[in-house]
Amino acid sequence: MEVCTTPAEMTAWSDAHRVAARRVAVVPTMGALHDGHMALVAEARRHADVVVVTIFVNPLQFNRPDDFTAYPRPIDDDLEICRSHGVDAVYAPVAATMYPEGFETHVVPGSLAEVLEGAQRPGHFRGVTTVVTKLFNATRPHTAVFGRKDFQQLAIIRRMTTD
Ligand code: PAF
Repeated sequence: MEVCTTPAEMTAWSDAHRVAARRVAVVPTMGALHDGHMALVAEARRHADVVVVTIFVNPLQFNRPDDFTAYPRPIDDDLEICRSHGVDAVYAPVAATMYPEGFETHVVPGSLAEVLEGAQRPGHFRGVTTVVTKLFNATRPHTAVFGRKDFQQLAIIRRMTTD
Protein backbone atom coordinates (compact mmCIF):
# COMPACT_ATOMS: atom_id res chain seq x y z
CA MET A 1 0.00 0.00 0.00
CA GLU A 2 1.32 3.40 -1.02
CA VAL A 3 1.19 6.22 1.54
CA CYS A 4 1.29 9.71 0.00
CA THR A 5 1.65 12.88 2.03
CA THR A 6 1.93 15.56 -0.64
CA PRO A 7 -0.32 16.46 -3.58
CA ALA A 8 2.56 15.80 -6.00
CA GLU A 9 3.08 12.23 -4.73
CA MET A 10 -0.64 11.56 -4.78
CA THR A 11 -1.15 12.92 -8.27
CA ALA A 12 1.82 10.96 -9.64
CA TRP A 13 0.39 7.72 -8.18
CA SER A 14 -3.05 8.39 -9.59
CA ASP A 15 -1.76 9.45 -13.01
CA ALA A 16 0.26 6.23 -13.29
CA HIS A 17 -2.92 4.20 -12.81
CA ARG A 18 -4.89 6.39 -15.20
CA VAL A 19 -2.22 5.96 -17.90
CA ALA A 20 -2.55 2.19 -17.40
CA ALA A 21 -6.33 2.57 -18.02
CA ARG A 22 -7.20 1.70 -14.43
CA ARG A 23 -10.16 3.39 -12.76
CA VAL A 24 -9.38 5.22 -9.54
CA ALA A 25 -11.86 5.57 -6.66
CA VAL A 26 -11.45 7.77 -3.62
CA VAL A 27 -13.00 7.42 -0.17
CA PRO A 28 -12.48 10.71 1.71
CA THR A 29 -12.30 10.37 5.51
CA MET A 30 -11.05 12.18 8.58
CA GLY A 31 -9.53 8.97 9.92
CA ALA A 32 -10.45 7.07 13.11
CA LEU A 33 -11.51 4.38 10.66
CA HIS A 34 -14.13 1.76 11.46
CA ASP A 35 -16.27 -0.84 9.71
CA GLY A 36 -18.49 1.86 8.18
CA HIS A 37 -15.51 3.32 6.34
CA MET A 38 -14.45 -0.14 5.18
CA ALA A 39 -17.96 -0.68 3.76
CA LEU A 40 -17.33 2.45 1.67
CA VAL A 41 -14.00 0.97 0.56
CA ALA A 42 -15.78 -2.22 -0.52
CA GLU A 43 -18.32 -0.14 -2.45
CA ALA A 44 -15.51 1.85 -4.08
CA ARG A 45 -13.84 -1.39 -5.15
CA ARG A 46 -17.01 -2.34 -7.07
CA HIS A 47 -16.62 0.77 -9.23
CA ALA A 48 -12.85 1.00 -9.70
CA ASP A 49 -9.62 -0.95 -10.09
CA VAL A 50 -7.73 0.89 -7.37
CA VAL A 51 -8.97 2.56 -4.19
CA VAL A 52 -7.46 5.54 -2.37
CA VAL A 53 -8.52 6.43 1.16
CA THR A 54 -7.81 10.00 2.21
CA ILE A 55 -7.18 10.73 5.88
CA PHE A 56 -7.17 14.39 6.83
CA VAL A 57 -8.69 16.15 9.82
CA ASN A 58 -9.84 19.31 8.11
CA PRO A 59 -9.54 22.40 10.33
CA LEU A 60 -11.78 24.44 7.98
CA GLN A 61 -14.91 22.47 8.78
CA PHE A 62 -14.71 22.69 12.57
CA ASN A 63 -16.60 25.52 14.23
CA ARG A 64 -14.81 25.10 17.55
CA PRO A 65 -11.00 24.92 17.79
CA ASP A 66 -11.22 22.59 20.83
CA ASP A 67 -13.27 20.07 18.79
CA PHE A 68 -10.58 20.15 16.12
CA THR A 69 -7.79 19.64 18.65
CA ALA A 70 -9.63 16.81 20.41
CA TYR A 71 -10.51 14.93 17.22
CA PRO A 72 -8.86 11.45 17.33
CA ARG A 73 -5.90 10.85 15.03
CA PRO A 74 -4.92 7.15 15.34
CA ILE A 75 -2.90 7.18 12.12
CA ASP A 76 -0.97 3.94 12.76
CA ASP A 77 -4.19 2.00 13.42
CA ASP A 78 -5.82 3.63 10.40
CA LEU A 79 -2.97 2.59 8.11
CA GLU A 80 -3.14 -0.96 9.44
CA ILE A 81 -6.91 -1.14 8.85
CA CYS A 82 -6.43 0.13 5.30
CA ARG A 83 -3.66 -2.39 4.65
CA SER A 84 -5.71 -5.27 5.97
CA HIS A 85 -8.66 -4.30 3.74
CA GLY A 86 -6.58 -4.14 0.56
CA VAL A 87 -6.65 -0.36 0.13
CA ASP A 88 -4.20 0.54 -2.63
CA ALA A 89 -3.14 3.98 -1.41
CA VAL A 90 -3.66 6.31 1.51
CA TYR A 91 -3.42 10.06 1.05
CA ALA A 92 -2.62 11.63 4.42
CA PRO A 93 -1.48 15.17 3.64
CA VAL A 94 0.07 17.44 6.22
CA ALA A 95 -1.96 20.58 6.96
CA ALA A 96 0.74 22.89 5.60
CA THR A 97 0.43 21.38 2.12
CA MET A 98 -3.36 21.66 2.21
CA TYR A 99 -3.47 25.19 3.62
CA PRO A 100 -0.19 26.95 2.97
CA GLU A 101 0.78 30.21 4.65
CA GLY A 102 -1.58 32.93 3.40
CA PHE A 103 -4.28 30.50 2.27
CA GLU A 104 -7.48 32.40 1.44
CA THR A 105 -9.29 30.68 -1.45
CA HIS A 106 -12.46 28.65 -0.80
CA VAL A 107 -15.06 26.71 -2.72
CA VAL A 108 -18.38 28.24 -1.68
CA PRO A 109 -21.50 26.04 -1.76
CA GLY A 110 -24.94 27.47 -2.54
CA SER A 111 -28.36 27.41 -0.89
CA LEU A 112 -28.16 23.73 0.08
CA ALA A 113 -25.53 24.72 2.65
CA GLU A 114 -27.64 27.46 4.24
CA VAL A 115 -30.30 25.27 5.89
CA LEU A 116 -30.36 22.53 8.57
CA GLU A 117 -26.81 21.89 9.84
CA GLY A 118 -25.49 24.70 7.65
CA ALA A 119 -27.68 27.20 9.50
CA GLN A 120 -26.28 26.04 12.84
CA ARG A 121 -22.65 25.79 11.77
CA PRO A 122 -21.64 28.81 9.67
CA GLY A 123 -18.78 27.97 7.29
CA HIS A 124 -18.88 24.23 7.99
CA PHE A 125 -19.95 23.16 4.50
CA ARG A 126 -17.67 25.72 2.87
CA GLY A 127 -14.85 23.92 4.70
CA VAL A 128 -16.12 20.58 3.40
CA THR A 129 -16.45 21.68 -0.24
CA THR A 130 -13.05 23.34 -0.11
CA VAL A 131 -11.24 20.31 1.26
CA VAL A 132 -13.08 17.82 -0.96
CA THR A 133 -12.11 19.88 -4.02
CA LYS A 134 -8.50 19.74 -2.89
CA LEU A 135 -8.72 15.99 -2.24
CA PHE A 136 -10.27 15.44 -5.69
CA ASN A 137 -7.56 17.54 -7.33
CA ALA A 138 -4.79 15.52 -5.68
CA THR A 139 -6.31 12.04 -6.10
CA ARG A 140 -7.87 12.64 -9.56
CA PRO A 141 -10.51 9.95 -9.10
CA HIS A 142 -12.98 8.60 -11.65
CA THR A 143 -15.42 8.09 -8.80
CA ALA A 144 -15.77 8.92 -5.12
CA VAL A 145 -17.72 7.22 -2.36
CA PHE A 146 -19.25 9.06 0.62
CA GLY A 147 -21.45 7.77 3.42
CA ARG A 148 -25.15 8.61 3.48
CA LYS A 149 -25.10 9.26 7.24
CA ASP A 150 -24.53 12.96 6.61
CA PHE A 151 -27.16 13.37 3.94
CA GLN A 152 -26.82 17.14 3.64
CA GLN A 153 -23.08 16.81 3.07
CA LEU A 154 -23.72 14.18 0.39
CA ALA A 155 -26.27 16.43 -1.38
CA ILE A 156 -23.87 19.39 -1.33
CA ILE A 157 -20.95 17.33 -2.67
CA ARG A 158 -23.17 15.87 -5.41
CA ARG A 159 -24.23 19.41 -6.39
CA MET A 160 -20.61 20.61 -6.34
CA THR A 161 -19.41 17.68 -8.45
CA THR A 162 -22.15 18.26 -11.04
CA ASP A 163 -21.48 22.01 -11.08
O1 PAF B 1 -17.48 13.18 6.17
C1 PAF B 1 -16.29 13.41 6.48
O2 PAF B 1 -15.60 12.60 7.10
C2 PAF B 1 -15.67 14.75 6.09
O3 PAF B 1 -16.61 15.77 6.09
C3 PAF B 1 -14.95 14.69 4.72
C4 PAF B 1 -15.93 14.42 3.59
C5 PAF B 1 -13.86 13.63 4.74
C6 PAF B 1 -14.28 16.04 4.42
O4 PAF B 1 -13.35 16.39 5.40
